[in-house]
Amino acid sequence: MDNLYRDNILDHYKNPRNFGILSDPSVISEEENPSCGDRIKIQIRIKELPGKKMIEDIRFSGEGCAISIASASLLTDFVKGKTKEEVLTLKTEDILKLLGTVLTPARIKCATLPLEVVHKTLLLAKV
Ligand code: FES
Repeated sequence: MDNLYRDNILDHYKNPRNFGILSDPSVISEEENPSCGDRIKIQIRIKELPGKKMIEDIRFSGEGCAISIASASLLTDFVKGKTKEEVLTLKTEDILKLLGTVLTPARIKCATLPLEVVHKTLLLAKV
């Protein structure tokens, strides 16, 4: 792994952005990585605009390895201000691009856990 990307992942792991509790969330859900038991919880506040629903704010909490926490930190920053539809099209490749690295299959599951929870949360949203 390139040093630059490793440092970025470590920075997001040690100083996760958007970690904590969101005031007045529209929807909350969580998911577990069955291979390790780590869990990520996502809270999203959705704003309805003419013709679209926007991620106004988002927080995450939970426990995980460096890759899953860094992924949650990078992803929550990335999706803020985007529409629900845009975020639902995000795929594994987009997460790997955010992390800036290639991962083994086991680590890919760590990296995509936050995205799975974000998708599940958005699909549960009533707004
Ligand atoms: Fe549990 Fe990575 S080892 S999420």
